[in-house]
Amino acid sequence: MLALLVCAVWLLAAASSHPLQRRLAPCPPFSNGTVNIAAYQLYPENVDFDEQSCLLCSRKSNIGSLYNASVVVYDPYKASVVSTIEFPNITRTPPFHIGGVAWDPYASKRAKNKSADEITILVDAAAAHETAGHDVSGDNYIIRWDAAAQKVLWSVNLTSVSRGRYGGPQDIEHDEQSNIFVLGTYPGTLMRVPRDGSRVDEWFVPAPRADFQPRRPRM
Ligand SMILES: *[C@@H]1O[C@H](CO)[C@@H](O)[C@H](O)[C@H]1NC(C)=O
Ligand SMILES: *[C@@H]1O[C@H](CO)[C@@H](O)[C@H](O)[C@H]1NC(C)=O
Ligand SMILES: *[C@@H]1O[C@H](CO)[C@@H](O)[C@H](O)[C@H]1NC(C)=O
Ligand SMILES: *[C@@H]1O[C@H](CO)[C@@H](O)[C@H](O)[C@H]1NC(C)=O
Ligand SMILES: *[C@@H]1O[C@H](CO)[C@@H](O)[C@H](O)[C@H]1NC(C)=O
Repeated sequence: MLALLVCAVWLLAAASSHPLQRRLAPCPPFSNGTVNIAAYQLYPENVDFDEQSCLLCSRKSNIGSLYNASVVVYDPYKASVVSTIEFPNITRTPPFHIGGVAWDPYASKRAKNKSADEITILVDAAAAHETAGHDVSGDNYIIRWDAAAQKVLWSVNLTSVSRGRYGGPQDIEHDEQSNIFVLGTYPGTLMRVPRDGSRVDEWFVPAPRADFQPRRPRM
């Protein structure tokens, strides 16, 4: 299965050889206060602005398209969808959602290569969210996307570490020490992944509580 994912990553890398055109410009403010985006099955729970892409050229923000399990790239200056990033065997493939999208603000600062422009994407299994944590089955992944080169840098399988004991990852954050944190919900957990994706650490996992009863989903 890991081979399949690696293969998917390789195919995607081979397929996307059309980096967006680049312009040198700092990100100017958006002129409008409200940004309305019309994109099928878009659920913009997670939106992030890619300040590096903007600095280098095209101005776009990345928006997780939750129900399609794809990432919508949107230009807030032109008010148009630039592209949709799709992942083989994840996009339009149950049980996957793309729940978290976060631009890494430290990637270009710490790298020798100042044009580094990296985005971390969370692929999560839907069941945990649909059942309020009763069913935490299905696999969850982190994908590291090179927004400049338009290719997957690496991916890791979070479930190979959580092994079905908890689930419902929802969000991502980066820190200055090159760590990627994944916030989980059922119950509250934090996983930590180094920026090269070489391992997954359980950074915070509460001790199992005998009296823990996940809430029933509201019908
Ligand atoms: C991810 O890890 C889980 C748990 O070890 C495993 O069942 C699943 O096959 C893995 N997925 C891939 C693509 O290797
Ligand atoms: C997607 O999954 C199918 C079925 O497991 C497999 O045959 C196919 O090679 C995979 N595609 C990619 C791009 O990994
Ligand atoms: C989501 O999937 C539907 C059905 O395949 C497709 O029509 C739509 O364009 C997709 N949306 C995005 C944002 O890719
Ligand atoms: C800004 O608002 C105006 C007036 O509502 C609208 O016509 C225009 O498309 C908006 N521009 C952007 C970039 O959203
Ligand atoms: C520098 O980073 C850019 C954007 O990620 C990439 O396209 C380019 O190949 C990198 N160059 C080197 C020498 O690593």
